[in-house]
Amino acid sequence: MKIYVTGAAGMIGSNLVRSLVAKGHSVVGVDNFWRGTRSNLEGIEGDFTFFEEDLTDSGIHCFDELGDNDVLIHLADIVAGIGYVFANEWPVFQKNLLINTAIASVVAGKKPSKLIYVGTACSYPQGLQRSVESSVLKEDDKFPADPESGYGWSKLMGEIEYRLLAKSGETQLVVLDLHNVYGWPCEFSGATSQVIPALINRALETPGSLTVWGDGTQGRAFVHVDDVVSALESAVSYEGSEGTIMIGPSSCTSIGEIAQIVVSDSRTQSDAIEFDTSKPTGDIGRFADPSRAERELGWKPSVDIHRGISDLIGKIDAAKRSQA
Ligand SMILES: NC(=O)c1ccc[n+]([C@@H]2O[C@H](COP(=O)([O-])OP(=O)(O)OC[C@H]3O[C@@H](n4cnc5c(N)ncnc54)[C@H](O)[C@@H]3O)[C@@H](O)[C@H]2O)c1
Repeated sequence: MKIYVTGAAGMIGSNLVRSLVAKGHSVVGVDNFWRGTRSNLEGIEGDFTFFEEDLTDSGIHCFDELGDNDVLIHLADIVAGIGYVFANEWPVFQKNLLINTAIASVVAGKKPSKLIYVGTACSYPQGLQRSVESSVLKEDDKFPADPESGYGWSKLMGEIEYRLLAKSGETQLVVLDLHNVYGWPCEFSGATSQVIPALINRALETPGSLTVWGDGTQGRAFVHVDDVVSALESAVSYEGSEGTIMIGPSSCTSIGEIAQIVVSDSRTQSDAIEFDTSKPTGDIGRFADPSRAERELGWKPSVDIHRGISDLIGKIDAAKRSQA
């Protein structure tokens, strides 16, 4: 069995590939470096083949040898911080539809034994995400659908296409709905960076006040990339029939709390927080009911948010110093 990973150079993909190869799997990765980088794949030693290809191009070769015993883990999509997602709703929506439908054609033609797709908490109805305290999401809450953004809709469209395809019974489909993932390696300074690395980057270089978008009360269920990798690895061997499994902690951390952790760290220069309520905040709050993940995959989050952020501050600090 070979494991194919799209988006292999991204945050989740590069950690997943590294872990799978270290465990002795034969892995084929593909990425076009839209956001992931070649350096994210440095030092992977073992049975790993990489293709630099755009999944929306015709005539790509990364799946030439995909066989019916193989597993395809599809991670490649356009994902970014809230500013980018809301400023580019149509292009993000269209690109993700094109990527996901290209993968559907590959699956229909090659019939791998399993397709693992990552959905997102952003695809859940915005009406269920109105408060930090009470917005627990369960897998069955997804429909009737009303995601807040074009990104959330695009990820949902991908899932719907794969569900229709899976009706043929030739490829097992597992969908992991991820909450907000953070960890290293990640983009921390560009237009597409997500909230935790973007805050850390600014706090490392800004003495005085750290500006936070919104009033800081909006929150998310942050999950460390190591925990996401362990969920994906469990999904590879999962033989159950639950089509969708939510991956995230059962608590919500506000952006204000995240900023407080960041400015309290002695390595950051910022020592206070100010709020810019003119900027977008997205859904107000959400967290996971992880009971299905625990029951079906034996999965529980293990990385405490303080430890995860501290580790990420060290990684971003080191990367900035080496760039300087
Ligand atoms: N990061 C999160 O908070 C989060 C939350 C929920 C779901 N997800 C999903 O997890 C998956 C991976 O996310 P990530 O955080 O690792 O993001 P990432 O941007 O680090 O990884 C995605 C990778 O896909 C690649 N890619 C984009 N378009 C491509 C194309 N046309 N052809 C080939 N490669 C392409 C990018 O270059 C990038 O390396 C995405 O599908 C995302 O929607 C992420």
